[in-house]
Amino acid sequence: MEFKIAILISGSGSNMLNIIKASQSGEIKSKIVTVISNKSNALGIKKAKNNNIKTKIINDKLLSKDEFETNLFEYLKKKDVNLLCLAGFMKILSKNFIKNFDRKIINIHPSLLPSFKGLNTHKRAINMNVKFSGCTIHYVNELLDSGKIIDQEIVRIKKSDDENSLRKKILMKEHKLYIKVLKKLEKNLE
Ligand code: GRF
Repeated sequence: MEFKIAILISGSGSNMLNIIKASQSGEIKSKIVTVISNKSNALGIKKAKNNNIKTKIINDKLLSKDEFETNLFEYLKKKDVNLLCLAGFMKILSKNFIKNFDRKIINIHPSLLPSFKGLNTHKRAINMNVKFSGCTIHYVNELLDSGKIIDQEIVRIKKSDDENSLRKKILMKEHKLYIKVLKKLEKNLE
């Protein structure tokens, strides 16, 4: 199945850009119909525009959670989006939004869930001295980083790694994993 994808971001958008490239090159069949940010200054917005993708800012500073989600919902319906991809989107969607949207919503997280949910994952993994970390793509529910896992990639942590080197290693795996999962979803294997 070909999806009409919306990508939700809050920041730099490297996963977003990677998905856009995969769509534009034909590596995945789905089309990126829009990139949405809750932050007006998200770097990813510029990157999306440079790649001729329609962008939308729904500035959550000025809106209640309910208003934000209503705007988001209406925009997604207008664009006929049937797969919502979160990539560095720093908000939790409510149960009500997820139920009403009624299409697949997936998120990427830079750890091997259910370990290290939430923020500062790389630092916490280093501090805990775990030997392996990685990234996870999961369905989104109303709890933080808690929906059913779709797929994961593993990264070995070396003694020489610090927060930054681990972040870089995991991000490279994230880019691959997102495309792998999108291909799986297109083939209906999930
Ligand atoms: C990634 O590490 C992602 O897993 C997490 O936020 C980061 C976003 O990075 N949720 P980018 O904006 O895709 O570069």
